[in-house]
Amino acid sequence: MTRPRNDSFLRALLREPTPYTPVWIMRQAGRYLPEYNQTRARAGSFLDLCRNPDLATEVTLQPLARFELDAAIVFSDILTIPDAMGLGLYFADGEGPRFERPLREEWEIRNLEAPDPYQHLSYVLAAVAQVRKALDGSIPLIGFSGSPFTLACYMVEGRGGTDFAALKTMLYQRPELLHRILSVNARAVTAYLNAQIEHGAQALMLFDTWGGLLSHRAFHEFSLNYMQQVLAGVHKEHAGQSVPSIVFTKGGGLWLESIAACGCDALGVDWTSDIGIARERVGRKVALQGNLDPAVLMSSPAVVRDEAAKVLASFGDGSGHVFNLGHGVSQHTPPEHVKALVDAVHELSPPYHF
Ligand code: CP3
Repeated sequence: MTRPRNDSFLRALLREPTPYTPVWIMRQAGRYLPEYNQTRARAGSFLDLCRNPDLATEVTLQPLARFELDAAIVFSDILTIPDAMGLGLYFADGEGPRFERPLREEWEIRNLEAPDPYQHLSYVLAAVAQVRKALDGSIPLIGFSGSPFTLACYMVEGRGGTDFAALKTMLYQRPELLHRILSVNARAVTAYLNAQIEHGAQALMLFDTWGGLLSHRAFHEFSLNYMQQVLAGVHKEHAGQSVPSIVFTKGGGLWLESIAACGCDALGVDWTSDIGIARERVGRKVALQGNLDPAVLMSSPAVVRDEAAKVLASFGDGSGHVFNLGHGVSQHTPPEHVKALVDAVHELSPPYHF
C-alpha cells in the first residue's frame, strides 16, 4: 500500500520534511457548512447521519470540496462507544448529547463490557472504508475515538455541558469504580481504533476533551494512564506504513511533557499555550498540532491571516507542525473565513520549510 499523493500531514506527524505546513480543522464537517445541514436534514437527525455510511461519507467529503485540506477525518462522534455499550445515546434539541441509562449503580459498572467493534460499530467501520475509497489516494484519512476518561465523563454524568460533578464525586469517593469503567473503556477504544485502521484509517486521534478538568495527580492517574494503555495496544503500522497517533487533551498545557511521553507521535495543543514554547518543551519527542483560537474565525479574513501568521512564526522553522484550531470550529463560523485560514497556512508556511 502506498502513501497518499499528498502525504504532508503524515510526514509532519512523523517530523519528516514537508514543503509547507499541512492543515486540517477539528470538526471540519459540521453545522457551519450549509451543505452539511442539508444532508443532516435528509438523514433525519445527527445520529441517523452517523449511522448511514453513504451520508457520513458525503459529509466527510464536503469540506474537502471547499478547502484545500491536507487530511480528512471520518464523520462520526466519540459517543458511539458508550452507545454501543447500551447506554442509549440521544440528542435533546439544542442541548447536546444525553444518555438514557448513565452509569450510576455499582452493578451496572460491574456488568459493563467492551463492545466488539465489528458487531456493534460496523456502521462506523463501513464509513471509514467508504471514505478511504472515495479519497482515492489523494489525502490521508484520520480515525478517532474519545479518550477513556472523556468517554467516562459522559457515561457517568449522562450528559455534557456540566462540570461533571457526579463523575468527580465517584473519582474521589469510589475510585475503584471509575478505574473499572476506565479499563473497560481502554479495551473498547483500543479495539475500535485497531478496527478503524483495518478499514483504512491512516492516522489516529484521541480526543481527551475533559482531561483538563482534573487535578495534576488525577489527570495522570485517571486520564493519561489509560491513554497510554490504548497507545500501547494500537497498531503502529498497517500495510507497511506507519500509523501515527495524536493525543489532544484540552486544557492540558501544564502537562505537555508527560503527555508527550505517553506513546503518541503528536500532541494536540489548545489555544491557551504558545506553540513555540510548547515546541521548546516537547518538540524533540513529538510533533505538534494546533493551535489557533477558534474565536479568531469570527473576525475577518485579514485578521485570520495575521493570526495564522503568528502561529506559524511562533512554531518557527522546520517540520513537525500540523496546523489546526485549538478546538473544534464553531457552528457560527463563516465558511469563507475557514477558506482564508487554509489558504493563508499554505501561502505563508513554505518559507519555514527548506
Ligand atoms: O472533526 C470532524 O469533522 C469529525 C466529526 C466529529 C464530531 N464530533 C461530529 C459532531 C468529531 C471528531 C467529534 C468528536 C466529539 N464529539 C468530541 C471531541 C471533540 C471536541 O469537540 O471536544 C466530543 C466531546 C463529542 C461529543 C459531542 N457530540 C458533543 C458535545 C456534541 C454537541 C456539540 C454541539 O456543538 O452541539 C456532539 C454532536 C456533534 N458531533 C455535532 C457534530 C458535527 C453537531 C451535531 C449536529 O449536527 O447537530
